[in-house]
Amino acid sequence: MIDLAIGAAREAGMFLLEHIDKVQHIQQKDGEGRNLVSEIDRGSEEMIIRRVRERFPDHSIMAEEGGTGGNNPEYRWIIDPLDGTTNYLHGIPIYCVTIGIEKNGSLIGGVVYDPNQDELFVAEQGRGATLNGTPIRVSDTDVLSDSVLVTGFPYDVATNPDRAIERFIRFLKKSRGVRRLGSAALDLCWVGMGRFDGFWEVNLHPWDIAGGIVIVTEAGGSVTDFRGTGAGVDGKQILASNGVLHHQMVATLNSEDD
Ligand code: IPD
Ligand code: CA
Ligand code: CA
Repeated sequence: MIDLAIGAAREAGMFLLEHIDKVQHIQQKDGEGRNLVSEIDRGSEEMIIRRVRERFPDHSIMAEEGGTGGNNPEYRWIIDPLDGTTNYLHGIPIYCVTIGIEKNGSLIGGVVYDPNQDELFVAEQGRGATLNGTPIRVSDTDVLSDSVLVTGFPYDVATNPDRAIERFIRFLKKSRGVRRLGSAALDLCWVGMGRFDGFWEVNLHPWDIAGGIVIVTEAGGSVTDFRGTGAGVDGKQILASNGVLHHQMVATLNSEDD
C-alpha cells in the first residue's frame, strides 16, 4: 500500500508541476473567492484514485474533490490531490500531494510529495519517517523563544475568526518567528524533519492532515488538539510539535493574557 501511495503521489505531483501555467477553469467553493478549485485538483485526484482502485478495488476512499472507492470497513485512503491550491493558482511553488492510509480507524501510513523541491516524505506506523529515503527527526529546540513555528488560517477567518488571530499574535510575541506556508501537509512534514518546531491550526479537514500526522508522529513529534489530548484526523484543532515544546505551546494556545 505504501509503495502504491508513493507512486501515485509522485505521478500526481509531476502532473501538478507540469500544469501550473495551464489552468483553465477556476471555480469558487465558498462564494467568497477564497476557497478555489480547478480542473487540476480534480485531474490529480482522478490519477491517484485510479491507481488505488486498480490495486485495491474494495478499499474505502475519502478525497477532497469527492472521489470515492469501495466500502471495505478496514482500509481507508484519505487523499488531498493538491494541498496549497491558493499558492498553486498564484504560481507560488509551495504545494503538495498528500495521502494518509487508515486501518480500522487508525492511521498506519502517510505519504506527502512536494514536486517543486522533489521532496518525498514517507512514514509507516512503527517504522519511522523518511525524506527521500533518509530517516528524519523532529528538532530538539526546547524553549519557545528559540522556536520557528508555522500556522495557517481557515478560508472563513474573516467571518469566523475563532481566536485564530489572537493566538497568532501570542505566538508572534513568544517565538523567534511564525511562518504561514499555505499547505498544512507541508507544515506538518517540515515539523517532522525539523525545519519548524511546531504547527497549529483550526478547522482543517482529514485530507489536509492525515498523511502529515503519521510523518510527525513517526519522526518523534507529538500531535494533539489544543488541550494536549489526542487528536484524530477529524479533529477541529491540530497542534503538532517536536514534543519537547508541546506543553509550552498548549499553555500559549490556552492563555488569556493577550
Ligand atoms: C488548505 C491548506 C492551507 C490551510 C487551509 C486548507 P487546500 O488546503 O492546507 O494551508 O490553511 O485551511 O484548506 O484548500 O489548499 O487543499
Ligand atoms: Ca488541503
Ligand atoms: Ca486540496
